[in-house]
Amino acid sequence: KKASIGVTGLAVMGRNLARNLARHGHTVALHNRSEQRTRDLVEEFGSEGDFIPAYSAREFVDALERPRQVVVMVKAGAPTDAVIEEFAPLLEPGDVIVDAGNAHFADTRRREAALRERGLHFVGTGVSGGEEGALHGPSIMPGGSKESYESLGPLLEDISAKVDGTPCCAHIGPDGAGHFVKMVHNGIEYADMQLIAESFDLLRGALGYEPAQIAEVFRTWNTGRLGSYLIEITAEVLAHTDAATGRPFVDVVLDQAEQKGTGRWTVQIGLDLGVPITGIAEATFARSLSGHADLRAAANGLAGPSRSPLTGSDAERFADDVEQALYASKVVAYAQGFNQIQAGSAEYDWNIDLGSVASLWRGGCIIRAKFLDDVSAAFGAEPGLPTLLTSGDFRKAVEDAQDSWRSVVSTAVRLGIPTPGFSTALAYYDALRADRLPAALVQGQRDYFGAHTYRRVDTEGTFHTEWAAEGRPEHKS
Ligand code: 6PG
Repeated sequence: KKASIGVTGLAVMGRNLARNLARHGHTVALHNRSEQRTRDLVEEFGSEGDFIPAYSAREFVDALERPRQVVVMVKAGAPTDAVIEEFAPLLEPGDVIVDAGNAHFADTRRREAALRERGLHFVGTGVSGGEEGALHGPSIMPGGSKESYESLGPLLEDISAKVDGTPCCAHIGPDGAGHFVKMVHNGIEYADMQLIAESFDLLRGALGYEPAQIAEVFRTWNTGRLGSYLIEITAEVLAHTDAATGRPFVDVVLDQAEQKGTGRWTVQIGLDLGVPITGIAEATFARSLSGHADLRAAANGLAGPSRSPLTGSDAERFADDVEQALYASKVVAYAQGFNQIQAGSAEYDWNIDLGSVASLWRGGCIIRAKFLDDVSAAFGAEPGLPTLLTSGDFRKAVEDAQDSWRSVVSTAVRLGIPTPGFSTALAYYDALRADRLPAALVQGQRDYFGAHTYRRVDTEGTFHTEWAAEGRPEHKS
């Protein structure tokens, strides 16, 4: 018997994907650079399904049914290229190589084009949900050709998470589309996490709550419209006590957030495409700011306002205000992320269905949330929606939240609690809805010092003002 799919790279993600496939009744060929991992997998989990261990690339390829489907689950970057180069010469036209790592979509485009020349399909796919998701049902975002999805799609849909019986997996679009969407997923993940972290900081700083009390607040929120995996795990983390010291776990963790780079890519590409993804950018910069220990130590003594926690009715309504601010800021972050997917899709001709993306993020992935049902419905009803902010229920929810949102941001400013995520989201909301922006003045300045020209509100065309003739002061120094 031959295998319907093979997995090479059997570190925890690859191993769990292979086990998930086998548990769904698929025969899975296994390969890893060091043989021991392959042996261990078969020894420990061999009873879960049909595995064919292979101890060389040739043996692995020969174990596969045609068209061969090879899932590569190695570290993104050079290791992926090395594995592709190892297997591509052994494959035949029509075979499919699947990169399930967190690759940069530009690398995926390059690899897809090169392998297409050789008659092979290359599918860069996003896989989200961490180790547990890989084993029990991740959210899967495959790019690559439509044709490759015909053989690969059913397998991936089989092992993906399901929401209301619908698989959290769909063909995203050609070449790098899947990895692009995964990248934006991670950017949104950063924004979501930052907003939740700011909520915690506000509840602590303005109300003096202990982490365990804040865990309860998050548990309550989790039963409402904010219900999501990230809110749920936040409550768990906050309720956790450090065994060694007996202190709240969150207080013994060094407050420097790290990143592996997908958030940074999202921001870089946002700049390249000219999409204002300010929520994701602030979240990414907040992580990098936190990591600058030297800078923070130098600035630690700078003066701030005296912090008197809220009292009375202000205190009573504050947690609810934060819930509203968090919800509204979250809508902004998603609106921006989906705008970035729209822009990427237009730039690279991917024809991405935003409703389908929202739908497959409903389960399995790190940002899974009730909220995504509504996002999916919004894009389903209006695929060309310019921004989530103007869509039916979101519009109403954000408008209803605005007083709380403003009050939370002003409280944060008054007490000196940094809320870059909430603040930038509110600024974005106000900028988008403004009749006029001071960008007009920026254009005037550009024309003044560099003759960069401007357009007018009342006439078509490009204009330049002769500032000297208008009495520009002589430059003296
Ligand atoms: C997922 C996660 C996953 C990984 C992130 C962590 O969707 O399963 O996003 O891809 O945990 O890359 O990212 P940072 O290390 O950059 O926070």
